[in-house]
Amino acid sequence: MSIIVNGLPSTLPQDPRVSLLDFLREYQHLPGTKKGCNQGACGACTVLVDGERILSCLALAVQYDGRQVTTIEGLGDDQGLHPLQQAFIDHDGFQCGYCTPGQICSAIGMAAEARRGVPSHVSADLTGAATLTREEVQERMSGNLCRCGAHNGIVDAIRETFTEDTGASE
Ligand code: FES
Ligand code: FES
Repeated sequence: MSIIVNGLPSTLPQDPRVSLLDFLREYQHLPGTKKGCNQGACGACTVLVDGERILSCLALAVQYDGRQVTTIEGLGDDQGLHPLQQAFIDHDGFQCGYCTPGQICSAIGMAAEARRGVPSHVSADLTGAATLTREEVQERMSGNLCRCGAHNGIVDAIRETFTEDTGASE
């Protein structure tokens, strides 16, 4: 059984009890994905699987045979940072940085959901449209906690990065 991690094929562990989070951190030596609560409550462990955001602490690695996983280490390229990584720097979207990899992976998945028209509580109640107002971003990112209180900068960075393709407005 194999899995693609940041574009590279890797062998899945024999032990079916290994979480995707532990597989990435302990077997793949990719410590960018963080273990916060380890029970699905904080979002620090968020990664992308085939472009969709998931909580890797709640997933077993063997479930993802043949799938493409992207972690914070897989964003950006030889030319530089992913635009959202740069925006987090520009907008002071972090302090200690522990939640940041999960925030960034989650936001990329969130923007894709918004583009596909996946409703949130906010958009369903207000307009039915997936526009990234501040309220919309706060709602869609509510599963990613930041104990440092960097939420305003996080929202600013996300809105700046994804404004054009999702029709963000005040
Ligand atoms: Fe996975 Fe907190 S470590 S949600
Ligand atoms: Fe410290 Fe978010 S920057 S927890």
